[in-house]
Amino acid sequence: MHILPASAVISLLLASITLATQGGEQVLTPGGYRSKSEVYELPTGGRLAHVGDTIQIIEAGGSVTHVASADAADSIEPARQDFLEGWIAFAWWLNPGLAPIASFRTTWEVPPVPETDHGQTVFLFNALQPNGSSILQPVLQYGPSGAGGGSFWAVATWHVDDAGNAFFTPLVPVSPGQTLNAIITLTNTDGTTFDYNAQFTNVPGTAMNLTGVPQLTFAAETLEAYRVTAASDYPSGSSVFSGIDLTLAGGVRPSIA
Ligand SMILES: *[C@@H]1O[C@H](CO)[C@@H](O)[C@H](O)[C@H]1NC(C)=O
Ligand SMILES: *[C@@H]1O[C@H](CO)[C@@H](O)[C@H](O)[C@H]1NC(C)=O
Repeated sequence: MHILPASAVISLLLASITLATQGGEQVLTPGGYRSKSEVYELPTGGRLAHVGDTIQIIEAGGSVTHVASADAADSIEPARQDFLEGWIAFAWWLNPGLAPIASFRTTWEVPPVPETDHGQTVFLFNALQPNGSSILQPVLQYGPSGAGGGSFWAVATWHVDDAGNAFFTPLVPVSPGQTLNAIITLTNTDGTTFDYNAQFTNVPGTAMNLTGVPQLTFAAETLEAYRVTAASDYPSGSSVFSGIDLTLAGGVRPSIA
């Protein structure tokens, strides 16, 4: 793994992986540590709607089951954490003001289970982010997180926001060698607010709708990890992110370096 060069973009990313030091029991999410009381499982068939300064969990029947503050000013001031936790390796593209990202697809295989388990957590995902630290991401996870997990690979779709909340679809165990098709899609926009769906198209129960949010302009492929203490805490071999396909509204594929 390489130490990353400092840059404005990287500081923006680090905002999403910082460790909150106050506010009760902390659990891990793919957006960093969060207060356990602000980490929510999405009910089956449910969705997330950003309305004003709130984010609502809406169950399949249409009732609002929870209203959380989406005001970043309410968030606990996070403390910077060790560079070697959080985003370990990643590739990214920032939309320079072209048409909105319409879809972002990635395929990869579930790696072998790591040879050692020291309580580490490894996340592999593609993600979209606004100009800020919120994130929408179909995530492959090894080890524990606020969604559950343990000494096995599992998937869930997450939305972690910059107000301290994290939302996830129920964790679904997957097997080494299994192919994962992850996609984040723009489903609607009025030009001001944007609706997205994120899921593993071939793993039922992982779909998450998130409506009424700012445009997601930053696309990333990421290895994120916590509490790794030995090389063997990572899976052996290499995990190839393939079939990466990013389209803009209108069907254009931008040239991506
Ligand atoms: C999610 O969004 C898609 C596309 O807009 C829609 O077809 C689907 O019914 C939505 N699902 C839920 C649970 O709201
Ligand atoms: C992104 O956010 C930063 C800081 O909040 C702001 O200075 C910058 O102008 C924003 N960029 C765009 C393209 O909105």
